[in-house]
Amino acid sequence: MIPYRPEPFTNFLEGQNMRLINEALEKVQIELDRDYPLVIGGEKIMTEKKIISINPSAKNEVIGRTASASQELAEKAMQNAAETFKTWSRVPAQHRSRYLFKAAAIMRRRKHEFSAWLMLEAGKSRVEADADTAEAIDFMEYYARQMIELTNRGRKTLVPMTGEDNDLEYVPLGVGIIIPPWNFALAIVVGMTTAAIVSGNTVVLKPASHTPVIAYKFYELLVEAGIPAGVVNYLPGNASDIGDFLVDHYLTRFISFTGSRAVGLRIHERASKITPGQIWMKRLVAEMGGKDAIVVHKDADLELAAQGIVASAFSFSGQKCSACSRVIVHEDVYENVLNRCVEMTKQLKVGDVRDAEMYTGPVIDEASFNNVMAYIAIGHTEGRLVIGGKPAGDSGFFIEPTIFADVEPDAHIMQEEIFGPFVAFTKARDFDHAMEVANNTDYGLTGSFYSRNRGLIERARTEFHVGNLYINRKCTGAIVGVHPFGGFNMSGTDSKAGGPDYLLQFTQPKLTSEAL
Ligand code: NAD
Ligand code: ALA
Repeated sequence: MIPYRPEPFTNFLEGQNMRLINEALEKVQIELDRDYPLVIGGEKIMTEKKIISINPSAKNEVIGRTASASQELAEKAMQNAAETFKTWSRVPAQHRSRYLFKAAAIMRRRKHEFSAWLMLEAGKSRVEADADTAEAIDFMEYYARQMIELTNRGRKTLVPMTGEDNDLEYVPLGVGIIIPPWNFALAIVVGMTTAAIVSGNTVVLKPASHTPVIAYKFYELLVEAGIPAGVVNYLPGNASDIGDFLVDHYLTRFISFTGSRAVGLRIHERASKITPGQIWMKRLVAEMGGKDAIVVHKDADLELAAQGIVASAFSFSGQKCSACSRVIVHEDVYENVLNRCVEMTKQLKVGDVRDAEMYTGPVIDEASFNNVMAYIAIGHTEGRLVIGGKPAGDSGFFIEPTIFADVEPDAHIMQEEIFGPFVAFTKARDFDHAMEVANNTDYGLTGSFYSRNRGLIERARTEFHVGNLYINRKCTGAIVGVHPFGGFNMSGTDSKAGGPDYLLQFTQPKLTSEAL
């Protein structure tokens, strides 16, 4: 087998690439405003109630309408997934992996088309959409190999005993509920779903209600790759209608969730209660929010640091769990770094993602727009606005990249996840103070430390308490297999998506010992 290598990103400044993505956009544009069913055991079902997905760059444009499941349909999906588990769990791991290799190959061929859907439905720039699609391909390639490796691992790691044939197998769990967020509307959906099914589980996939169409496109791709009906049941629905129902269900064996802290904690609490008929403890993988900091020491390459801050804070409008929302700068270089970030931010064009010149696109919806604007109002009471702070056009949900300076570490805007193009700066007296401020959060997802001092870099490695720590580089952009991803504390269970231990969470080891 060819070793795993991450999918290269597309350089849109080179050759045919801009033409290819623009052609894909034109194709997708023609396919907008259609209806999509939910799918249970291969049966396509339309419902009267619909989820309407709109383009956040052009709020009058409908991306599509999907069915919206009732509890009755959710029950049908659970029963179907449980029935399909009886056969799918017996399919050999190598065979299951081959479905993923096939699906990855199809997605690679149609890469720009998937990216175009991401641009229009999730509000991603070409570059961000391309990275999302590349990550989706990577997850399939990586988890397929990981499953084969896990299958071989058990027997190899046992201590041999004369007169016995011993084997440790990683067997699947059962029916999983896959609950992804909208912000990596392809990569995270694909990663969470394929990790579960390549491990031999069947799933009910409830896509995020902002991005159900791209999730349907992925479901169609799995069908094209030959995945048997019922292995993945595509079940869009309002969380208030079916969220608790799926989590509480007695057939739910595990829940794989990525999203906000509030919803993650709700699921954590509900999943710990035993429902009549349930004969296991539900397993929960919950990857949640962040309040990620970049720390700049006085001896750092300040230009590099400013580039890292601006990219981490304002790419995809700051709507990454990994986005930088706090900047902690040594007092000696504070004004330099702040001014350089302001200059760079002035150059960022905000606008519709179809505009090839734009950098910062829209936020996802009106609620998010209102939430960020409310934090900007709070920011005026907690800091000094140095750039941004206003809406940027009303055809979509656009907000200017915003920087507040001189903010106290305990301020709301330094503590709460805002999830928009918004970053707060604070001063640190020295390295110890900087670490104290960086760790002064309930979260612990990503962080960056910029310095040229080897001793301080070594200390940051130990003292900066985050799941993904980056030195002298931005705090976003983890690559599957290279930077396994997940956070500490209220950022979740640190499952390390795209890492060598991820599939363990969707399996249980079974030891069989035969006397010879
Ligand atoms: P969200 O919590 O609002 O929604 C996430 C998913 O949960 C959606 O599919 C939603 O429909 C569903 N949901 C909502 N209520 C539910 C309930 N009661 N029961 C079951 N499901 C329910 O989050 P979001 O706005 O989609 O995503 C943004 C959040 O995700 C941010 O906090 C971000 O930091 C986080 N995130 C974390 C990671 C990570 O790896 N740590 C990655 C991406 C996003
Ligand atoms: N995996 C994404 C990143 O690292 C969230 O930015």
